[in-house]
Amino acid sequence: MFTEDTLAGETILITGGGSGLGLAMAKKFASLGSNIAICGRTEEKLQKAVEGIEEASNDSSAKYYVADVRDYERIQEMISEIIADFGEMTGLVNNAAGNFLSASEDLSPGGFKAVVDIVLHGSFNCTHVFGNYLIDEGKEGNILNMVTTYSESTGSAFVLPSACGKAGVLTMTRSLAYEWATYGIRLNAIAPGPFPTKGAWKRLVPDKSAEEKFLSKIPAGRYGDKEELANLAAFLMSDMAPYITGECVVIDGGERLSAGQFNFIDKLGSREELKAFFKKMHNKGG
Ligand code: HXC
Repeated sequence: MFTEDTLAGETILITGGGSGLGLAMAKKFASLGSNIAICGRTEEKLQKAVEGIEEASNDSSAKYYVADVRDYERIQEMISEIIADFGEMTGLVNNAAGNFLSASEDLSPGGFKAVVDIVLHGSFNCTHVFGNYLIDEGKEGNILNMVTTYSESTGSAFVLPSACGKAGVLTMTRSLAYEWATYGIRLNAIAPGPFPTKGAWKRLVPDKSAEEKFLSKIPAGRYGDKEELANLAAFLMSDMAPYITGECVVIDGGERLSAGQFNFIDKLGSREELKAFFKKMHNKGG
């Protein structure tokens, strides 16, 4: 469904694009013809990432910018640099995030603030600067926000700052999708379930047994592949989705549905054993 020029003519900034899902999206967008800007805090990581993006690219270029999304002035400066380097900026992916496991009663105010600053204020900072540029220039553009499956109805224990920050980002997505539709600016979100990346796994999946429990909650029986997420992101950022705005697309192999009241029955035996059991109940008139 994609062609090699699906994103030709685009210049997209991906925050936290030096590794993990951000880098996977950067490579995918570059392979579809988009110029790529990535930013992060660690120059060495960004430098290496740009080499990989250039290898994947289809006649487009990539640059990195050392910037912390929490620093509004640096984001203003960086977006001006991107526009000077590429001539314009057409898209933004708010991907940079912070997270760690903690009992909420043990969180320090600084720990709560660090994550909410990166996730919520960082996404606001980039969105606000980019949005103002588009509005001032009379250009249309696209913003994609990475949230989580726990941003919406459930929240999540042990990752309180992330849950609060991501819920805010989702609300920002919907609020601005309405407010900025008049300017031709689309905002959407992706809520990934478990996609194993070094940064997330190191902080969120303490050991093998936690990993097994995590996996057992996913009805698809496997983790997500970065390429699957990158495809979805490319679609939402492309001209294939001009009428989609304010949407949050979940990509999680069904993990978020694990609360279904009778879903646990699946864990009581093999599918054949369960079928035999249901039949027996039925024959008994149950
Ligand atoms: C408790 C912690 C902590 C931990 C840091 N803090 N790590 N508290 N448990 N494990 C506290 C510190 O003590 C400090 O509090 C405050 O947080 C700030 O810490 P710093 O290290 O000074 O901050 P900073 O260098 O800005 O680092 C921010 C960070 C860090 C969020 C804490 O982990 C980070 O840079 N993360 C970026 C990458 C990342 O987290 N990736 C995973 C995203 S995955 P005091 O009180 O001393 O100020 C994700 C996906 C979710 O979000 C979905 C998964 C399925």
